[in-house]
Amino acid sequence: MHAMPPRVSIVLPTYNERGNIEPLLAQLLPLQRQFDLEILVVDDDSADGTAELVRQLAHREPRLRLIRRVGRSGLASAIKEGLLDATGDVAVVMDSDGQHPPETVAQAIDTLCASDLDLVIGSRFHPKASIAGLSGRREAGSTWANACARFSLPPRYSELSDFMSGCFALRLEPLLPLIRAVDVNGFKFLYELLAVSRGRLATAEVPLQFQPRSYGSSKLDLAIFWDFLISILHSLSLRLLPRRAISFGLVGASGVVVQLLVTQLLMALIGLGFEQALPFAVVSAASSNYLINNALTFRFQRLEGMALLRGLLKFLLVASLPVLANVGLASAYYSFVARDTFWAQLAGILVVFVWNYAASSRFVWNTP
Ligand code: GDD
Ligand code: MN
Repeated sequence: MHAMPPRVSIVLPTYNERGNIEPLLAQLLPLQRQFDLEILVVDDDSADGTAELVRQLAHREPRLRLIRRVGRSGLASAIKEGLLDATGDVAVVMDSDGQHPPETVAQAIDTLCASDLDLVIGSRFHPKASIAGLSGRREAGSTWANACARFSLPPRYSELSDFMSGCFALRLEPLLPLIRAVDVNGFKFLYELLAVSRGRLATAEVPLQFQPRSYGSSKLDLAIFWDFLISILHSLSLRLLPRRAISFGLVGASGVVVQLLVTQLLMALIGLGFEQALPFAVVSAASSNYLINNALTFRFQRLEGMALLRGLLKFLLVASLPVLANVGLASAYYSFVARDTFWAQLAGILVVFVWNYAASSRFVWNTP
């Protein structure tokens, strides 16, 4: 008697992959000879017509499903949505740009099905893997990111070589609660999954022959690098500090540097006294914080055009209460405690952080 073929769901996140998705589907669909197959394309409203193309292909191919989301909310969130909608026993996630060979995907599924593992990762850093598709800089970046990831994850996972991979297969039923808990404010779904699992997953790796991209370009940018940094700090805080607060705090730290620099500059170049330089420095720091937070911390609520200007005014208004406290406190410290401009300013800055975070989340970017 033949065993039933396992039900396999392939999740394909796409963002502007019109040129890549059709050839990839042509390579994946033959897997239905081995598996009871379902393919879910999760598209974030690509401007290049990826979703329209997939819809057309789905008319001819009942195993293909399109999930189309409006308001781009990122790779990790697309993967999460695809996995939560998948109906297979096993689910596989892979890039849709031709960088992950279908053979690796099949091998990951086979390895998973032939074992009682929870998760099999296609690793670019496996001894038998190869990386043709990454620049030297990206490869070095990934190596560094993997080292940080290993350091911040449960020791059970320290044998793994690629925590950043976008190619992995997992057993759906037992992992659904973890998938549900993954924080999606990032690019790195796999890293987050390992982090929320707290060392409970049985894992293995198969070598991935990472290919150059077929068409188009990578979506990995500074914001995604930033998210990863936040993820690491979030894990290191035992997931206690909210991610957004960590981001807001880091941006705030950059504002501290701006404020200290501007004060020094104004005092040294224009010969302003400390009390005169301080208000300019504080407003510069607040404006720079606003712009960076808008680009990174709140980029999914990002304000643009006139709204950006209105937001700046609101942010300055929200910040002005503690700005007064900041200036007042710093001046008082300087006059009464010590004539030390550095500690005087830090004292003021510390007081404003909590208020600014809470109030600007709510009133500037309208998030709870
Ligand atoms: N739905 C959706 N929404 N898909 C997205 C988004 C998004 O916001 N951003 C990227 N994607 C899709 C792309 O269309 C592609 O299929 C896949 O996710 C990977 O994106 P790339 O932009 O090609 O990433 P990469 O090749 O630079 O990064 C590779 O290495 C990373 C580790 O260094 C990928 O393998 C990543 O998955 C991996 O984490
Ligand atoms: Mn890619």
